[in-house]
Parts: sequence; structure tokens; C-alpha cells
Amino acid sequence: MGNILVAGGAGFIGSQTLLSLAKDGHRLTTLDNLGNGFADNVLAGEFVEGDLHDSALLDQILAEREIDAVIHFAAFIEAGVSVKSPMDFYRNNVAGSLNLVQAMVRNNVRKMVFSSTAAVYGQQDQFDLLHENLPKQPINPYGHTKWMVECMLRDVAAIDELETICLRYFNAAGSDPEARLGERHNPETHLIPLVLDAARGARDNISIFGTDYATADGTCVRDYIHVSDLADAHGKALGLLLNRNESKTGFYDAMNLGTSRGHSVREVIETAKQVTGIDFKVIEQSRRAGDPARLVADARRAKEVLDWQPRRSDLKTMIADAWQFRQNL
Ligand code: UFG
Repeated sequence: MGNILVAGGAGFIGSQTLLSLAKDGHRLTTLDNLGNGFADNVLAGEFVEGDLHDSALLDQILAEREIDAVIHFAAFIEAGVSVKSPMDFYRNNVAGSLNLVQAMVRNNVRKMVFSSTAAVYGQQDQFDLLHENLPKQPINPYGHTKWMVECMLRDVAAIDELETICLRYFNAAGSDPEARLGERHNPETHLIPLVLDAARGARDNISIFGTDYATADGTCVRDYIHVSDLADAHGKALGLLLNRNESKTGFYDAMNLGTSRGHSVREVIETAKQVTGIDFKVIEQSRRAGDPARLVADARRAKEVLDWQPRRSDLKTMIADAWQFRQNL
């Protein structure tokens, strides 16, 4: 049990994680600037509106609330957007994280679970599954920013100032079982919510970005993982950090969160048609900049280290859960 600061807790994965941490009995403070999050997503603990660049606010929260550990979700996430606005990504993701880590060190808060991403691997299609030890070769600014922060955390851990676990998510999907917390980005760029918008008539069609990739059906392959499984993994990573006894030593670990099963864009669209029972128009377009052909996790490490197993991450369940949420929008 601890006092936990959840930076970016009003977003899709952060808000789901709050529910899971609250069940474990943690006392929670969410800090979010509502750039992409929603205050009404914060269904557990207290909410503070504010920004990672506000050092005075960070000092105040960390000290007054006697924070034991931070879970850091606050970042821009769209790979495609990062290609067009790289400086926004470096400022928000890298400079914001540096400011947070500096505040943590100032206030002797040593433990952090960090939201990283499969995008750190870039394009390594010669491997069916991406193992954590592969070289990090991001192909978009988003992936660069996340890898930079991982390097920073590792280097700060090496001088014994930080204990950190970086969780490299593959493609988050689904919603909570009560369909309150789903993907609602503005503008929405992610495949599953857009496909479901085509199904519910909120858009005329869905575009497939690229049909000439070197994959079985020519479209990109991703490893989709249910957001409630991601939330679970955060609870376990946090527990591991809070239970560490060697409190004077630094610690860095990084692990993939995925299922080791890949699904193509076409497969997602076909499954969405089955789940919803609705046919909709599909348009084939050229590739989107910054997209690797295939991102599928070697997910053994998280199972071993965290004793974690995905439970709701079959494609039909994820799309059905996302559909429940999307219809209520
Ligand atoms: N896609 C389409 N049509 C669309 C939207 C997406 O064909 O209208 C394709 C994309 O080109 C890509 C795939 O669907 O090939 C998945 O795209 P998303 O935008 O849903 O997700 P990304 O794989 O680009 O990125 C997501 C998160 C990142 C995370 C990454 C990890 O946004 O934060 O998953 O794999 F790093």
C-alpha cells in the first residue's frame, strides 16, 4: 500500500490503472493537464489539474502528499502526429519527464513505473517477436522520445537515485468491463476506435493505410493488448518496486506488455464486422508515415518478472469491449 502519484491518470490507460490500484488499496493522486485526458475519467483518488513543467506544483504534491512512488503516463502518443510535430513531442515527453524526475530526486521519491512503448524497437521485421534486448531503433519522433526517457531513467538509476520499471506497451485496446473508460482521443487516430466509428455510422468509411507491406495480407500487423491487462501489469510492477528492500540502490528494468499474437489491419476490420454485425466501407490508401510493418511482443519477461498474464486480450473480446464503450459516446 502506498501514496501513489499517477501522472497522466486522466487518459485511457492511466484511468484504467487507477481502478486497479484503488482495488489494491493504494491512495491515489492524479496529475493531468487535460491536454488529452478527461477529468471525468478519474474514478478513484484525487485529481489535480496541472502540468509536468510546473516544478513548484510537483514539489508540493510530492512533499505534502508524502508520495512513495510515481506512475508516469503523461505523454503525447500518436506516432503519425509526432512525425509532423516533433518539437511538441520532445518538449512534452522528454522535457516533461526530466522535470518530473528532477522533482522526484529533490523530494527523495525514488520509485517510478514508466509508460514506454513498442515504438522504441522501430522496424525490425526480420524478427517475428520483439525481445527487450533488441537494439532500439525507433523510426518516428514518438519512439525516440520514449527511448530517450528510458535512457534517462536508466542513467539516473545507475547513480542510485531511482528505481524504475519501464513497461513497453504494444497496442492498447478495449475498455473497462462497465464501458466507462475507453479510447477518446481528439482527434482519434487509432485503428480500433476509428473502425468502430465506421460501424456505428459516425464516419463514412475506414481507410487502410498501406496494403503493400511485407506481411501476409500486405497490411500492418500489431499486437493488441486489453487495457485492463495493462492496468494489471502496472499494479504488479508497482508492487515489485514498493517491496524492494535494497532501498539505497538504483534499479532499472524494462519489459514488453503484449500477447505475442499479431493481427493485421484487415483482420481487425473483419473481426469488427463480425462483432458488430455491421458491414461498412473500407478504402485502401497509401502508407502512413512512421508506421513499422510489424510490432509483436516477445512477452515472456513480464510473465516471469511480474507473474503477469493477459486475460482479456483476445481480439474479439477487445473489440466487443471497445464497441460497448464507443456506442455510449
Ligand atoms: N491504421 C489504418 N487506418 C486508420 C488508423 C490506423 O490503417 O485509420 C493502421 C496504422 O497505419 C497502423 C495500425 O492501423 O498500421 C495501428 O495504428 P494505430 O494508430 O492504432 O496504432 P500505432 O501502432 O500507430 O501506435 C499505437 C500507439 C502508440 C504505441 C504503439 C505500439 O498509438 O503509442 O501503438 O505498438 F507506441
